[in-house]
Amino acid sequence: MAHSAMLLLLISLALALGPAVGFYGGSMMFTPGNRFPDGSVEMHFYYRESSRGPCSSQVNWICESGSCGILTKTEPVVTDTAENLWCQSETHMVTNVTSYAPLTLSSSGCCWADNVHGVGGWTLRTHVDTGRRSDTQAPNRSPVSAAIPSIKIPQNCFHSIHLLAHDPDDDVVKCRFNDANCTDCHRHPNINLQEESCTLRKEGSLNQGVHVFELILEDYPISNITVTDDNGVSNAHNLDNPTALSQVPLQFAVEILPPSQGCVPSVNKPSLLSPTPLHGDVHHAAVGEAHEITLRAQISDSSIVDFQVSGPFNMSKTLKSESNGVLVATLTWTPQETDLYRRVPVCFAADTLHSQSEMRCIIVTVAKTRVLSGEAKVLCEDNSISIVVSKASMDGIDQSWLQLRDPTCSLSSNETHILGTMSLNTCGTTMDDSGDFIIFKNEINSFENPNAVITRRNQVKFGFSCQYPKMASVSNRYVNHKSDYIFTESSFGTFSYSFEIFTDSSFNKKVDPSLYPVQVELMELIYMGIEAHTSLPEVTLFVESCRATPEDNPFSAVFYDIIKDGCNMDDTIIVHQSSDSTKYDFEIQAFKFTGGFDEVYISCSVILCAKGSINSRCAQGCLSESARRRRRDVSQETARHYITQGPLRMLRQTHDAASNDSGFLHMSTSTGVFAGLFVVSIAVLVVFLVYNARRARPIDRMHLLSTF
Ligand SMILES: *[C@@H]1O[C@H](CO)[C@@H](O)[C@H](O)[C@H]1NC(C)=O
Ligand SMILES: *[C@@H]1O[C@H](CO)[C@@H](O)[C@H](O)[C@H]1NC(C)=O
Ligand SMILES: *[C@@H]1O[C@H](CO)[C@@H](O)[C@H](O)[C@H]1NC(C)=O
Ligand SMILES: *[C@@H]1O[C@H](CO)[C@@H](O)[C@H](O)[C@H]1NC(C)=O
Ligand SMILES: *[C@@H]1O[C@H](CO)[C@@H](O)[C@H](O)[C@H]1NC(C)=O
Ligand SMILES: *[C@@H]1O[C@H](CO)[C@@H](O)[C@H](O)[C@H]1NC(C)=O
Repeated sequence: MAHSAMLLLLISLALALGPAVGFYGGSMMFTPGNRFPDGSVEMHFYYRESSRGPCSSQVNWICESGSCGILTKTEPVVTDTAENLWCQSETHMVTNVTSYAPLTLSSSGCCWADNVHGVGGWTLRTHVDTGRRSDTQAPNRSPVSAAIPSIKIPQNCFHSIHLLAHDPDDDVVKCRFNDANCTDCHRHPNINLQEESCTLRKEGSLNQGVHVFELILEDYPISNITVTDDNGVSNAHNLDNPTALSQVPLQFAVEILPPSQGCVPSVNKPSLLSPTPLHGDVHHAAVGEAHEITLRAQISDSSIVDFQVSGPFNMSKTLKSESNGVLVATLTWTPQETDLYRRVPVCFAADTLHSQSEMRCIIVTVAKTRVLSGEAKVLCEDNSISIVVSKASMDGIDQSWLQLRDPTCSLSSNETHILGTMSLNTCGTTMDDSGDFIIFKNEINSFENPNAVITRRNQVKFGFSCQYPKMASVSNRYVNHKSDYIFTESSFGTFSYSFEIFTDSSFNKKVDPSLYPVQVELMELIYMGIEAHTSLPEVTLFVESCRATPEDNPFSAVFYDIIKDGCNMDDTIIVHQSSDSTKYDFEIQAFKFTGGFDEVYISCSVILCAKGSINSRCAQGCLSESARRRRRDVSQETARHYITQGPLRMLRQTHDAASNDSGFLHMSTSTGVFAGLFVVSIAVLVVFLVYNARRARPIDRMHLLSTF
């Protein structure tokens, strides 16, 4: 009796002891290093481990099969941590292998952090073949991946997670659930894993709490190759009977948080802004030179507290706040001699207390020197990209074996430079959505001379890109008609928006700029058209909001919403559908603000999206308040910018002669006079109060009509 009482006491004590420490995932990659005259080859292993709670490591790698040599390892070095919440560390291990044959390292432990499926034990297993590949004449390099220490997503916002699946040998990488020997272990019935892209997609609802993911990454060659062991025996890896060259673990946890107010990027969850690298980008760093990665993220409804980073040890992180809820992190890493030729994954996400941005991962490749840095120049034109590469910077590279992504597009050259020009939708140029920019990318690759043996190390491959802002803002002059706004910035492309008032519903004849401010009678129809002038192919214009204000300031304290969150708010608005996706024409009945304002300005926030991009704001259309909460499809949109046109000067109608600017009106006609009078006088009071309080409030259309 006494014994069991004591036991209970101990258990409850243990439970009460602060945050539990638990395994929270790990990832492994390996790469061969030096080869010694005695025939031995160094194999380098890099292992990252995440823990929940304070930093700790449960891992102890052992040789499970094959001859692994003597594994020398560093102590785990903490690479990122948030005090007692989560931690990630990296361990470097080296061994000399003397026999070219398969080997397996493994590590297992008892204790995943508490999770919804009650998964306890974990096992990490790494399969290596140290034999010589027939295509690279070197041992295979493993796929490269990583994950941030603590992925957390509000329940209503979980949609998909893009994992990194890079391969240094350009092999095809496949991701699988690690369930080789059990029927039901840690599978996720409501999650679909796309093996080729290594993307997790939600297919049903997930319970709140921690879910563990135990994946393995395998690499498969893209052509028939052999791997030769030290006895000269060749193992065939044929395309028609694919077998993996290696296998590495990628384990992580996803914490599903209680549902949040909404999932709108930049509003309820942080969105990553340029120049944050895109998922899958490849950076080039050089030994001994500091390499910087800039991350920028924004949110309006709360604040970003940190960026979680999974990176190599010795990578530093500094944070800096900017205006409008923007936080910037600068990651700096100086590769050492031992990092030469490594492909280092770096993953990151921006954290608020209750949400997280998408996770992105990039690769940093380490070379001896930055040969190409500063010697390739990219020019972004309105509808084309040009690249000029100095031949001197490509020493040892035969430029006749260089090509763009689409090999039918040719590069030209003069004595000193290699030149390429391509339009935005040719030559294999691809388009990416970075949140606030549309990015066009291409690359120059070397291809193999079919009659010569070229090793991969002597080849070049470098990407270049042009970014075009998705949104442009117009700041207007007081009375003058605004000319088209042109966004120009060095190394950025340009495009413009126009916002015009037209004379009739054909939307052909613009009101002459000299006639501004445009005189309109109340109740008269006003025809307005917004158009994006861009040579970007395949884009869609989306008008997210239009707001009338009595002064030339979209953030005026007095305003009236015509379109809000993509929804038509005004009863009289008619949108004229156009077959041209970069045009938006609409008409609306004239009104004016009460309280002595004669002029009306219309400001609209506009967004350009890639045509057919299902996750973009354009595809979402009207997001009503309730729909916003339900919405799960997460868009890629960010900051709001405005284009403004006006002023419209409201003329009094003849039967309105008795009214005056103080706002008390004599209605001469129509039904509803008394109601109208009542409303209008209340409105004047409201406007007055609102104005004095300097607080922004929307006002009903009824209140704005100063006559009927
Ligand atoms: C591997 O072997 C070579 C020569 O045999 C030696 O110089 C080197 O230090 C060894 N490396 C490790 C990690 O044991
Ligand atoms: C899975 O099963 C096979 C054969 O039954 C065995 O060789 C292998 O070691 C097992 N792997 C694990 C992870 O238990
Ligand atoms: C790969 O090898 C198989 C035979 O093992 C052969 O049928 C196939 O054509 C080869 N493929 C290529 C691309 O050489
Ligand atoms: C970490 O950085 C310091 C200073 O930059 C350097 O002296 C040290 O060698 C680095 N450590 C490793 C393991 O790269
Ligand atoms: C080659 O073209 C580049 C880019 O147009 C130019 O800067 C360079 O001066 C040219 N070199 C020669 C030798 O004409
Ligand atoms: C406006 O109306 C008020 C009250 O009816 C009157 O006192 C005032 O003189 C009028 N002002 C003008 C400019 O007509």
